[in-house]
Amino acid sequence: MSKVVAIDGPAGAGKSTVAKLLAARCGFTYVNTGSLYRAIAWAAAKSGVDVKELKEEFLSALDLDYVDGVLLVNGVDPGSELRTVSCAAGASFVATLPFVRKFLLPVQRNAAEKGWIVMEGRDIGSVIFPDAAYKFFVTASVEERARRRMAQNVNESLSFEEIKAAIAARDHQDSHRAEAPLCQAADAVLVDTSALSIEQVVEQLHDYIVQNPREC
Ligand code: DC
Repeated sequence: MSKVVAIDGPAGAGKSTVAKLLAARCGFTYVNTGSLYRAIAWAAAKSGVDVKELKEEFLSALDLDYVDGVLLVNGVDPGSELRTVSCAAGASFVATLPFVRKFLLPVQRNAAEKGWIVMEGRDIGSVIFPDAAYKFFVTASVEERARRRMAQNVNESLSFEEIKAAIAARDHQDSHRAEAPLCQAADAVLVDTSALSIEQVVEQLHDYIVQNPREC
């Protein structure tokens, strides 16, 4: 059993905030795996390579490593540059490439070598750490996720219905790709956050961990 709290779920369900707070509360290291896919898209853009033309050889010159939970790309922290819309779009594309997922598998597994981690993604409990000590599938209704996104005010020009449609489309793409699709692992605990505050979700996950000690 790996010293891993796996948190999977669709975009906009509050995974990142919950995973970060849970890690701080438990004294574990927080690891965001979406950043890895974003880092590949970022490195490609920096090298003038179109992600649609990305070849496996490009990855052999790429060193991705987590140092204290911070992702370094060839020794550099790309910081907020990973959060841009173009990086997200590139990440979504590279995440469909089997050679990319194969390349990122050991990077993610190595992150658990130094002690307990809370790792957040789409396929952590199903593919990366099928033996994770704890697995949670954190989700929320499409309506609630669209409401939260509206409240963040990041898509001012889009209507509620447009945001909802975009979320539903991304859910469909993430759940239907051939390679490691978004899915709830059979042994993951389902947490529907639709009617819960962030604090309530963190409390629920923390309580579960405390009440279900694991031998690792
Ligand atoms: O969580 P995020 O938005 O930073 O993820 C960026 C992209 O990477 C997203 O399109 C889904 C993909 N991803 C993935 O396929 N598997 C993961 N474990 C994490 C992210």
